[in-house]
Amino acid sequence: MRGDRPPVTPVWFMRQAGRSLPEYNQARGNTTMLEACLTPELAAEITMQPVRRLGVDAAVFFSDIVVPLKLAGVGVEIAPGVGPVMDQPYRTPADIARLCEATLTDDALAPITEAVRLTVAELGATPLLGFAGAPFTLAAYLVEGRPSKDHMAARTLMHADPDSWARLLNWAADITGAFLAAQVRAGASAVQLFDSWVGSLSVADYTAHVAPASTRALTGVAKLGVPVVHFGTNTEHLLPAMRDVLLAAGVDAPVIGVDYRTPLDTAAAIVPGVPLQGNIDPAMLAAGWPALSAHVCDVLERGRQAPAHVANLGHGVPPETDPDVLKRVVELIHETTND
Ligand code: CP3
Repeated sequence: MRGDRPPVTPVWFMRQAGRSLPEYNQARGNTTMLEACLTPELAAEITMQPVRRLGVDAAVFFSDIVVPLKLAGVGVEIAPGVGPVMDQPYRTPADIARLCEATLTDDALAPITEAVRLTVAELGATPLLGFAGAPFTLAAYLVEGRPSKDHMAARTLMHADPDSWARLLNWAADITGAFLAAQVRAGASAVQLFDSWVGSLSVADYTAHVAPASTRALTGVAKLGVPVVHFGTNTEHLLPAMRDVLLAAGVDAPVIGVDYRTPLDTAAAIVPGVPLQGNIDPAMLAAGWPALSAHVCDVLERGRQAPAHVANLGHGVPPETDPDVLKRVVELIHETTND
């Protein structure tokens, strides 16, 4: 991830831990998603499962982008099959001002720190990736109150009340930045900033109303010297601005995560000189081996246009995925690039 191309292309999968693994469903039992994230032994066990079964080159810390909100005392739950649901939408100046009084202390972060420590101890030489949600993606849930398609209320607030918007984004940056830094201090080797829904913005809105907060979220973790992957979906138009966020934060090993819509050679031309991560189409995982293997080889070939390539999906593992297929993809990537 530091920009040099290792002999064998490394691979991990977004959402590699989760419902596609029978041992995950068994370990979760009746525990709610957020309870599982905040139970260190369970979070560490779930983080380890895909490493054991799939042979991936990195573990991804089992948590969620809304965990730091929960730890700051915000009313949020993860509804199965739906996603994060807030106790209320946060849209008015008074609601946002009240929300932004919440802070995230080191004490509150203790379950995260503990889970990371347990995981790193068990992983040995395999790196652990930490992650957090970017301020816009968190704000999209806070302002809407629940998952939404086009994030209309959030995009409206940005222009209707720019002061409350900036206050909300800076607050989210500080909370999510503290969550990221805690994971690195406890032993994570690299982190990914997920701005999953940022593709709904124009370049102008992103640059003026969102990028400064993402930079703010990453400034602390950049000082810790770890590689940072910056990922969103539908972001072809935003890739240069997303790279600039990493550079402005002072990240010394920036990586851009590319979703499945943009071929990696196209992305390499848009952000030259930057290592890329991605971008196997999750839909191909169920398309049968001939189509999937041809697609994986095409992704690897296009990835050669970047200075370095971390193989991954172009978004998360679908819950219905056959884990044996994921394992076979890992083997194919390792064999194909071992030259
Ligand atoms: O292995 C990994 O990649 C780590 C696990 C991980 C989870 N959430 C666990 C999870 C990661 C990286 C996330 C990040 C996350 N959470 C994002 C950014 C990544 C992305 O997919 O774009 C977002 C937008 C969220 C918010 C969220 N949490 C959604 C949309 C959902 C899905 C709701 C559902 O049930 O389909 C969640 C819940 C969630 N987070 C699950 C997992 C494994 C499923 C819950 C379950 O198993 O009961």
